[in-house]
Amino acid sequence: MSNICVVGAGYVGLVTGACLADLGNQVVCREVVPEKVEKLKRGLLPIYEPGLEEIVRRNATAGRLRFSTSYEEALRDAGFVFIAVGTPSGVEGEADLTDVTQAAEQIATRMVQPLIIINKSTVPIGTGDWVADIVREHQTRRVEFAVVSNPEFLREGSAVYDFTNPDRIVLGSTDLAAAQKVAELYAPLAAKAIITDLRTAEMIKYASNAFLATKISFINEMANICEAVRADVMEVARGMGMDKRIGPAFLAAGLGWGGSCFPKDVKALAHIAAMHGCHPQLLRAVTEINYDQRKRVVIRLREILGGFRGKTVGLLGLSFKPNTDDMRDAPAVEIAQFLQHEGAQVKAYDPVAMTNARQILHRVSYCDSPYAVAEGADALVLVTEWNEFKHLDMERIAKSMRQPVLFDARNIYAPAQMRDLGFIYCGIGRGYLVNEQAH
Ligand SMILES: NC(=O)c1ccc[n+]([C@@H]2O[C@H](COP(=O)([O-])OP(=O)(O)OC[C@H]3O[C@@H](n4cnc5c(N)ncnc54)[C@H](O)[C@@H]3O)[C@@H](O)[C@H]2O)c1
Repeated sequence: MSNICVVGAGYVGLVTGACLADLGNQVVCREVVPEKVEKLKRGLLPIYEPGLEEIVRRNATAGRLRFSTSYEEALRDAGFVFIAVGTPSGVEGEADLTDVTQAAEQIATRMVQPLIIINKSTVPIGTGDWVADIVREHQTRRVEFAVVSNPEFLREGSAVYDFTNPDRIVLGSTDLAAAQKVAELYAPLAAKAIITDLRTAEMIKYASNAFLATKISFINEMANICEAVRADVMEVARGMGMDKRIGPAFLAAGLGWGGSCFPKDVKALAHIAAMHGCHPQLLRAVTEINYDQRKRVVIRLREILGGFRGKTVGLLGLSFKPNTDDMRDAPAVEIAQFLQHEGAQVKAYDPVAMTNARQILHRVSYCDSPYAVAEGADALVLVTEWNEFKHLDMERIAKSMRQPVLFDARNIYAPAQMRDLGFIYCGIGRGYLVNEQAH
């Protein structure tokens, strides 16, 4: 059993804290926002993440998991401190390290016994060394410490599963003993650990996210070619995915990636590369393809509807992917804004993200069901592939619309079936199936 402090109780920090407590450790999560701490103390989560609430409650009740705004309280007995604060994009695409810097300074002034400081936030290459410098400069008393990079690979929506069933644990440090101590925290998970130097560990995280984003942008580029040559990208992806060297994951053509990680991490890596004299043309293209994908939906809808003035467009799903309430860089935001800009009325429904969406997307009519979104709409766009949208009464939907235009931007519906129900169906990269009807 170890005493652990986690700084930041967001998607990563809260999952890390709760799951480490569940492994038997004593954990205190230090969060800067008092309202979040108050909620957590009452057993309410500030985020939506399947399965997490139960783990938080169970461990809080058992006295293994506590929440505080105070560093003194959180660091009092700690031998390990995880930094899990946000690292959003700065103006040039660089990672904004304001919160990481602040956390490192605060830890330095409050640490009272030897401490292993673990960077779990996704941070630019070299940040581990830089955090060590900050801590050394700000320490008010000489206390031994080591810095370990331990990037996180969990996915929102399956974060608890991913944290407890990791493909690998990546640890980077100049202090091998410290890295091994962190590896021991994960020992009950029986995952493979890879121990490297600090910079290599930081680079593994960026390279992994950039590669996954590249796979998605690749299949989206293939989808656009499929549309032009009248092939079906779904079958292309299936045929490609059967090749063991390629694999089937991350080959779903659609609206591309969004959320809090891929967009900022690809940009940050490109920025780091450029600042080191490299020319990151692949990374730049990957980002460009991704954002073009959102525009393509609007362009094709404009063609079908003959413009948006006086038209109503319904959006099914708002979060950047299913099973999360995260609206950061969600394609729905940009699509809704493009539509509104061209004069469309936008209606929307999402099972969990509407509270967050309301803060970002204004002048949208938020509905209490997918059927209410479809009622009287000129087009319906499936933006997020929540399971509940896969089993709708599509006949009822087609009949209730002013024009039965269905833009299946995640390819979850069977085109022939939708056509039989009277829809003008559009998918992504399903050229053969789409062109028959849309043109
Ligand atoms: N969200 C993901 O799926 C995911 C996956 C892997 C890695 N990451 C990385 O993990 C890091 C955190 O991401 P997130 O999605 O959890 O962010 P988040 O915004 O959900 O959470 C960050 C939390 O830290 C708090 N915070 C900021 N400064 C603080 C301080 N000094 N002390 C205490 N709390 C502080 C914020 O109030 C917030 O609650 C980022 O670097 C991200 O790139 C995220």
